[in-house]
Formats: sequence, C-alpha cells, structure tokens
Amino acid sequence: MFRQSSWDEPVIFTLGRPGRRGHILPEVEETVKEVVGDLGGLIPENMRRKNPPKLPELSEPEVVRHFIRLSEMNYGVDSGLYPLGSCTMKYNPKINEELADSPKLGMLHPYQDERTVQGVLEILYRLERWLAEITGMAEVCLQPAAGAHGEFLGALLMRAYHNHNGELSQRRDMLIPDSAHGTNPASAAMAGFNVVVIPTGEDGCVDVEALKAAVSEKTAGLMLTNPNTLGIFEKNIDEIAKIVHEAGGLLYYDGANLNPILCKVRPGDMGFDIVHINIHKTFGTPHGGGGPGAGPVGVKEELAKFLPVPRIVFDGKRYRLDYERPHSIGKIRSFYGNVAVLLKAYIYILSLGFEGLREVAEVSVLNANYVLHKLRGVEGLTLPYGEKTPRKHECVFSAKPLKTKTGVSALNIAKRLLDYGVHAPTIYFPLIVEEALMIEPTETFEKEELDRFVEAVRKICSEAQTSPEKVLKAPYNTAVQRLNEVKASHPQNMTLSWRMHLKKRAATNP
Ligand SMILES: Cc1ncc(COP(=O)(O)O)c(C=O)c1O
Repeated sequence: MFRQSSWDEPVIFTLGRPGRRGHILPEVEETVKEVVGDLGGLIPENMRRKNPPKLPELSEPEVVRHFIRLSEMNYGVDSGLYPLGSCTMKYNPKINEELADSPKLGMLHPYQDERTVQGVLEILYRLERWLAEITGMAEVCLQPAAGAHGEFLGALLMRAYHNHNGELSQRRDMLIPDSAHGTNPASAAMAGFNVVVIPTGEDGCVDVEALKAAVSEKTAGLMLTNPNTLGIFEKNIDEIAKIVHEAGGLLYYDGANLNPILCKVRPGDMGFDIVHINIHKTFGTPHGGGGPGAGPVGVKEELAKFLPVPRIVFDGKRYRLDYERPHSIGKIRSFYGNVAVLLKAYIYILSLGFEGLREVAEVSVLNANYVLHKLRGVEGLTLPYGEKTPRKHECVFSAKPLKTKTGVSALNIAKRLLDYGVHAPTIYFPLIVEEALMIEPTETFEKEELDRFVEAVRKICSEAQTSPEKVLKAPYNTAVQRLNEVKASHPQNMTLSWRMHLKKRAATNP
C-alpha cells in the first residue's frame, strides 16, 4: 500500500540560525588581491546594496534535508505511472539532464557574438532540420515557449499570409472542433479571429458535413489535433484538408498528440500547412506545473518568409542569425527560444534515431490500447465515441454511469487513485465527454505498472458501488488530503513569495 511521507516542514526562511553557513570560503589570497584590487570597488557605488539581502542562513545538511523532505511529499514521473492524458508525461532520460547541465551551455550568454556560439547554433539549426523532417514541413522556428505560444504564432502566421494575399479583412473565421484543447480557441481569439466550433460525429472524428457547411470565403483556417483528444485518428484528414484548402483556408496542426505517429506519418503529408510541436511532451523533456517547455512551429515553404526573426542560417562554413526578413512577423520571444529544453530534445532524438522514435510511437499506442482493453466493461465506466475504434496514444472513458448510480465522479476517482500511488489521469477534458477520464500511459511504463493502474481503477469503481463515502473523501494516504480546489487556486489565496507571506501576515495581525 502506498503511504506518502508527511513532514511538518516549515518554509526555508524560518529554518536555520544567523551565522550558519553551508560553505566557508577561504580568504582572498594576497597575490589575487594585488591583481584584482578591492573586489567591492569593482561594483559602482550606486549599484551596491545598502544592507545585505535577508537570505536564510543554513548549513548544507539542513538544506539537503529540507529539499529531500519536500520531494518526499511530491509525486513525479520518476515515482510511477503519470497517465495525464494529452500531456504525454513520459520518462525523461537522465542523459538529457546531464548534458543540458553542461557549463558549456550554462555559461553561454545570448548576447554573445554569434562567432563564439557556433556550437549551440549548430545544434539548434540541426534540431530545426530534424523537426522539419519529422513533421513534413519546410522550415521550423524554435522560439515559442510552449504549445499554446506555438498556436498563437501559428495564428499570427495565418494572419500574415492572408494579409499578404489581401484577404485578411475577409478571412476572420477560425474553425475549431469541439474536442479541441482550450488553448486553440484562446490563441485564435488572441490573434483576432472569430472561433467557429465544428462538432464531433458519433465516430469520434470531425463531422465532415458540418465542416462543409461551415467553410466559406470567410475561413482563415482550421486548427486540428490528429490523433484528436479522444485518441482517435482523423481518418478523413485528406478530405478535411481538401475542403479547407479549396475554401482558401490554411490547416493548423496542434502537435500535442504527435507522440503516437512519430516517424509513422507526417502532418505535412496529411495536408497541414502549419504545425506546432510540444517538445516538452513528445521529446522527453521535463514539464508539468507550467514549464519549462518549448513549442517550435513548422511551416510549409509559402509561409516560411513570415516566420519570426532571427532565423539561423548556415552558409556552408558558419552559422549566422539573420534578421533581414522583410516579411517576418517580428519576434515572438526573447533570444532564440528555451535553449536548455531544446537541447534535451536534440539529445533525445539523437539517441533514439528514426527507428527508436518509431518504436516510441508504436509502444505508446500499444500501451494505451492495453489499458483500454483492460478497463473496458468495468461497471460504471463507458467508452464514448467510436466504441469499437482502436485508439492511438490515449483513451477517454466516461464515469457518468458511476456518478449517476453512486455519486462518485471522475474527480473522486482521480482523488482516490492517489491513495494507490499513481498519478490521476486528466479529468473533464475533452469537454465533449461527460465525467471524462483521459488516460495516456505513454511508452515508458511497463506492463506491471499499467496493471497496477488498471487494478487501482477497478478497485475504486467497485468501492464506489459498496462504500461510496470512502471514495468521496479520498485521498487518505497523501501528504495533503482533499483541498478546496476553488480556494486553493484563487489568486487571493496564493502566497507566491516569502515577502508576500510577511505582508499578508502583517495585514491580518497588525
Ligand atoms: C491538445 C493540446 N493542445 C495544446 C496544448 C497546449 O500546450 P502547452 O501546455 O504546451 O501550452 C495542450 C496542453 O496540454 C493540449 O493537450
């Protein structure tokens, strides 16, 4: 049985005592002093602190104990299964971390002369080429910091394209299926488009007749995830692409679900014109809790001139940053993207190669269908849309019958799963599935771990029938029990820094 550690651990600012140190630095040697002079004097007077910063003063063992205790109250992808649908929480190979930690990268500065950063420019240039090859695009820009940021860039590129053709004022509609991630309509709206929702058919795919009825001379484009968020491959993608292109629109590929089709089929070959790639999902870089990430965007040849500057170019001898792009939409992010994250993706692709990436896709699909098969028929769960259709990377069950009969909802199942030492799947997404449990096991968990998850879900569904109140109050075995989620995530209740905490405390106890 899983029991998470529960420490009564104070924040680091209240630990330690004045004068405690982790390291005692040696006095500066006379010979060094002679050469360097007074170190303090090197900092201009107006930039010197008047008082030392109020930092916690702790010994090294205290610091280590503190962070180990906090980590013991946490759960991560290295702890066990993390089947967070649509997030592709896969194992992050440690070699990526080790190489990305290299001072050769860490000591670089983005303002350095490009002649002194040829190595990292070469890596980024090669990564762009590989991602272009994997997605079937002509060029890739590495700048966006996340998938949603990539979507926003994609929508801006659509604007630039239609503007260039003199059609922007007419092409205001962005078509988006009702199964899409919320960031799709948000990005389209931020770029100034009207969102037109396309319904999903019984088979779990875009309703082609509804799409035909929605396209017009007002269509700017269609944003689509394939496989979609139900884990189903859009079998009519050729026809969908034809419909949108014939109406003068562009096809945008939301790459959050690229994992199960890696090196099997390419969005570019399906007819997509613009693609974003969630590097942090597909290419084994750590994410969760909002970052860090990267959402490179790939485009077909006719859109390449609109990509953000600078572009990394290679003249056969040297890599250069090219800002001379008159049609570019400008910059989308500072410098050249989230380089440490991109480097991890580079290592991931390099170490797996084409065959390895293909196997990633195959095993991720196998694992999702294994879980689906094992959970099919569990009392209280149904598999809406395309009941008989095999899934790709994820499967979405509905706990609606269980909730109706016992009061135990998808949220309650998710909470109780924590007691079994597995991370909960994504819940309540996609919005078209009531009481959704969206399960994406990924390729990096073996059969025994998948069986552990399946067994836990089965037990919970059976518990719901016999003693629902137990499930309704879960979790019991975690460091923190059930939170009021609305209060916990309300900005007014958040304390983002120690200084903020002190201010709040002073305000409540003047
Ligand atoms: C289908 C889909 N599209 C887009 C996104 C947005 O990606 P990001 O979280 O990197 O901004 C997500 C995130 O989970 C997603 O699941």
